[in-house]
Amino acid sequence: MENDVNETKSRLANPQWGGRFAAGPAAIMADINASIGFDQRLWRQDIRGSLAHAAMLQRVGLLTEAEEAEIRSGLLAIADEIENGSFQFSPALEDIHMNIEARLSERIGEAGKRLHTARSRNDQVATDFRLWVRDAIDGTTRQVETLMASLATRAREFADAPMPGFTHLQVAQPVTFGHHLLAYVEMLNRDAGRLRDARARLNECPLGSAALAGTSFPIDRRFTAQELGFDRPCANSLDAVSDRDFALEYLAALSLLGMHLSRLAEEIVMWCSSPFGFIRLTDAFTTGSSIMPQKRNPDAAELVRAKVGRITGDLMGLLTVMKGLPLAYAKDTQEDKEPVFDATEATTLSLAAMNGMIRDFTPDLTRMRAVAGMGFATATDLADWLVRVLRLPFRTAHHVTGRLVGIAESKGCDLSELSLSEMQDVEPLIDASVFDVLTVEASLASRTSEGGTAPGNVRRAAIEWLERLEGKA
Ligand code: ARG
Repeated sequence: MENDVNETKSRLANPQWGGRFAAGPAAIMADINASIGFDQRLWRQDIRGSLAHAAMLQRVGLLTEAEEAEIRSGLLAIADEIENGSFQFSPALEDIHMNIEARLSERIGEAGKRLHTARSRNDQVATDFRLWVRDAIDGTTRQVETLMASLATRAREFADAPMPGFTHLQVAQPVTFGHHLLAYVEMLNRDAGRLRDARARLNECPLGSAALAGTSFPIDRRFTAQELGFDRPCANSLDAVSDRDFALEYLAALSLLGMHLSRLAEEIVMWCSSPFGFIRLTDAFTTGSSIMPQKRNPDAAELVRAKVGRITGDLMGLLTVMKGLPLAYAKDTQEDKEPVFDATEATTLSLAAMNGMIRDFTPDLTRMRAVAGMGFATATDLADWLVRVLRLPFRTAHHVTGRLVGIAESKGCDLSELSLSEMQDVEPLIDASVFDVLTVEASLASRTSEGGTAPGNVRRAAIEWLERLEGKA
């Protein structure tokens, strides 16, 4: 510790850089080297890791009980200082690890200087960062589940409300609004699964790998791993200090999650626009325009739509940092933290804003029902009727339906508004019962196949989700 500090000092006063360059390059060296500006966010994890390490050193006889007790109360006092804002972070001490350790020695003297036995900042930072990412995964997973519960709640509410289903953003077939909302619950459930998978692989403890090769001290890595809630120690010390897969997997999971939120955000932006007019957000989730008094802009949705840009940027950034890094630790990995902090902040905000909007919106069900019937949305139902009732081959039925759509189009009316004789001119076997399938409601009710949009299916699925997510909202 002392040595590290002196080294920093002597580098700042590097004689080779004397004369006119002394201040300039030395300050830049300090600036590029210091991470305390951002890694102070690891302070809780750093103290937690040090407490576990000290407890282990005492168990194996490398610290006396008295020394361990002093270290423990010193670290807890430092935690209080940081919590209440009185801790003085020093850039000259580079990072959170040396800031805390220097303060510990300042407070308790000799015992504090023994803490770094059988440890290096390399295994220390790898451990701290894993703990931080693990906490972030847990927080994000909870937020995802909350959003899923909000979506499922609204889906149950609108389980039988017709809306147009789109392909190519052209009105395709009627679906229910609840069905559409539940599609996002499925996506988010995969996101939660990916976060849980990443957590399971992350949960091995680097502590005790020391600088890169392990240590000659008789440490107990299983003890520290267990103390810190890890499943086991990392198996290979070289891998343990240099691996950042856990951060990359987390960023990859956040990128997919961000992409899903962006899709939903885009739909909200469209649904709010006057040409769609499907939903309305209250004042709580919109902004006005300084020049156009009639405007109600969905800024929160637009920002959620955009945030994925920085999240995938963070993933690409860290992948690029890690690419080509030889074993074992290299200072490059200090660049692992900011992308993870940035992506976490963007995700936390996006999930909270999305949850707010999902709870906030009011749909215009009349408008959605009207659009659901536009654009010959029940043409597939007509074709299916020709197959089912007249036993036409599907391709023939498709052709007959196409001709009827053409006639309706030229008359400017809907399929259900064609007369029976107009239909029979195209296919003489058609009878009046065809009109039963040409309404939006009949179309919806018929989609009872597993995973289909029939209101009964949708209500059941929404209720199942709400049961699974019980207590998560
Ligand atoms: N601040 C450093 C980081 O985040 C801590 C590890 C420094 N280790 C070293 N050998 N210089 O990577």
